[in-house]
Amino acid sequence: MNLLMNQTLTRLARAAVVAAGALVANLAGANAGAELLHFSADSGNTASVQRGARNFMAYCSGCHSLKYLRYNRLGEDLGIPDDVLKKNLMFTSDKPGDPIKIAMPAAAEQWFGRVPPDLSLETRARGASWVYTYLLSFYLDESRPLGVNNTVLAGASMPHVLWELQGWQKKAEHKAEGEHGGDHHGGSAFEKVTDGSLKPAEYEAFVADLVNFLDYASEPGKQARISLGLKVMLYLLGLLVLTYLLKKEFWRDVH
Ligand code: HEC
Repeated sequence: MNLLMNQTLTRLARAAVVAAGALVANLAGANAGAELLHFSADSGNTASVQRGARNFMAYCSGCHSLKYLRYNRLGEDLGIPDDVLKKNLMFTSDKPGDPIKIAMPAAAEQWFGRVPPDLSLETRARGASWVYTYLLSFYLDESRPLGVNNTVLAGASMPHVLWELQGWQKKAEHKAEGEHGGDHHGGSAFEKVTDGSLKPAEYEAFVADLVNFLDYASEPGKQARISLGLKVMLYLLGLLVLTYLLKKEFWRDVH
């Protein structure tokens, strides 16, 4: 009887290991083998989020909406005065209470074969590192309709809208699949073809600002939540001290 139980347990354990292995393989396969650069977004860096907001409106809002974010919320959170907001950021509407819609006509789908997705929740859906890597990983590929492809989103139908800043790159030939060294800085899987107007490090900072902004957009209340949380903790700590002193006061005469 005992032996039978043991065998069953071993089998169950083996099945669990196999299932876990398959799951891990699946998750890894979702990125089609491309390794992600590590990036942890910091939506508390207001200066960076402000730059990201400006650049998003200039380079991305033509195609991508942020339907859960309203202009006036953006202005409030980032400390941008109304007139500056209207003049520099509000390209798609003149009502501050409006969400950030797309500036492009509905023809988008015919142009790109896919409607550019809303990016409100993008960093939550894909993760900040994915979005960061995506924006660094456009490369020349003649087999694609727009002549450009992306290592983390194979067959992407988005043009490399930042090519003037980054320049063009192609996939490095000598790198065998899966044989990436320790140095991932700036997407070492690529070779530069032409220079852009920004140096590689500047372009990385530009993309970092964008991702910080998208991370902010995915949860505009995050910083307020963190600071409220801190206040609550401080309050509770203060209360603890008072309660302790009170307890001492009450018990003073008992001993
Ligand atoms: C000319 C139109 C256009 C512009 C401008 C544009 N995109 Fe895109 N974008 C697309 C299209 C189309 C897709 C869908 C790609 C696909 O799935 O094949 C896309 C996809 C994406 C995705 C991946 C979405 C996902 O999870 O699959 C991200 C992230 C993204 N864009 C970010 C940006 C950012 C940031 C900018 C500004 C720097 C930008 N895009 C500018 C058209 C555009």
